[in-house]
Amino acid sequence: MNLQAETTELIAPMPFSMAENGELARHMLETAVEYKELRMMYACAIKEVQTKFEVLNTEFNILYKRNPISSMQTRLKSSASTIEKLHRKGLSFSLENLEEHIQDMAGIRIICSYVDDIYTLANALISQDDVTLVEKKDYIANPKPNGYRSLHLIVSVPVFFSQQKRDMKVEVQIRTIAMDFWASLEHQIKYKKEIPDQENIVAKLRACADDIARIDKEMMDIHQQLEASENQTEEEGSLLAMLRKLDTPIS
Ligand code: GTP
Ligand code: MG
Repeated sequence: MNLQAETTELIAPMPFSMAENGELARHMLETAVEYKELRMMYACAIKEVQTKFEVLNTEFNILYKRNPISSMQTRLKSSASTIEKLHRKGLSFSLENLEEHIQDMAGIRIICSYVDDIYTLANALISQDDVTLVEKKDYIANPKPNGYRSLHLIVSVPVFFSQQKRDMKVEVQIRTIAMDFWASLEHQIKYKKEIPDQENIVAKLRACADDIARIDKEMMDIHQQLEASENQTEEEGSLLAMLRKLDTPIS
């Protein structure tokens, strides 16, 4: 949908005609257009952070012949959940409130195979000199009572537009494949009004989260052992190793 069509859709349900109440209509239209522009800026901030992770993944691929990122998802918070979140915080809808109080308008989720890659990627991101760490919540070191594990960062990055530079906040969630599998199942509970045998399900999920944490750790240990033995058999400086590095495709 184009900008004009979306704006018309935004103001269509309003109980006044533009001819009757021109001033109000103009004000609401202006807000709608500014809101649209702000969403565009958050969408661009997602692209900036996504590119940073893609660069790290490509670099790892060449240096260590493996991808620390298994997959990446991005999302721009929907208007409905933005308004719902402001309402939950007791705030009215305004662009100022949105920018100040909603930290996850722009979201990116990074899924890794191994737990140590989560911290390697997070540290590589926040040590970049155009990235400011606003908030860090380590739900891996300190899981939520329900068993939720993930590393959450709120970062601020500069985005360059044609007429201005804006620092935009992006929420980054980094977790393993197994933690992500768990979180997507657990997420379903939030949308169910009635859950049969809820207590049992919650307890089972909690136990699964602990099992996943244990297996994630074991998988990482095995992976580290394999890497160490590989490095021993294939001397880093050997001609063959260097030739193999040359042949790795740059993606
Ligand atoms: P929000 O108001 O939800 O943003 O909470 P918050 O500001 O305290 O942020 P927090 O870092 O705790 O959570 C942010 C996001 O992480 C949520 O919107 C979810 O996407 C995810 N998340 C947090 N806790 C859970 C959980 O218990 N289960 C699942 N499935 N996801 C969670
Ligand atoms: Mg949040």
